[in-house]
Amino acid sequence: MPVTRFCRSVAWVDIDWPALRAAAADTAGHAYAPYSRLRVGAAGLTSDGRLVTGCNVENASFGLTLCAECGLVSALHATAPAPPAGAAADPPGLVAVAVVAGDGAPLLPCGRCRQLLLEVGGPALLVDTASGPAPLAELLPAAFGGADLSARRDS
Ligand code: THU
Repeated sequence: MPVTRFCRSVAWVDIDWPALRAAAADTAGHAYAPYSRLRVGAAGLTSDGRLVTGCNVENASFGLTLCAECGLVSALHATAPAPPAGAAADPPGLVAVAVVAGDGAPLLPCGRCRQLLLEVGGPALLVDTASGPAPLAELLPAAFGGADLSARRDS
């Protein structure tokens, strides 16, 4: 699965899966995981062609651990082009993501991180798996999303 062409809005983005996986593996080398000793790296390609990465960062208070995907999502926002003055931030989203463990092989995102990825990539986001890219909709079916909020909240 060397390259996938992905249409997001009007632009085609080439997805170089080996490069994305390699970037995730490199980032896993920066993980701080003294408690689980499971290093994780995540790399994502944005719809405007940028690469963003994240690694897991653990804490002595175990429940405060940050998954690699958390860092990835933060990096996506932190490195996005600045919105026009006064406008709400709405960064270009992700079109593809690779998550790997320290051994370099794909690691499927945990449930919480699938939900985080949905927010920034939508159901069509392609996720690297051991058997090839899969749309996030397959990994997180019947998901709760922003449309449920606007449709169901008190007026
Ligand atoms: N981890 C991630 O970084 N992403 C996932 O999707 C699954 C789990 C990390 C969190 C923790 O540092 C370690 O893996 C063991 O759970």
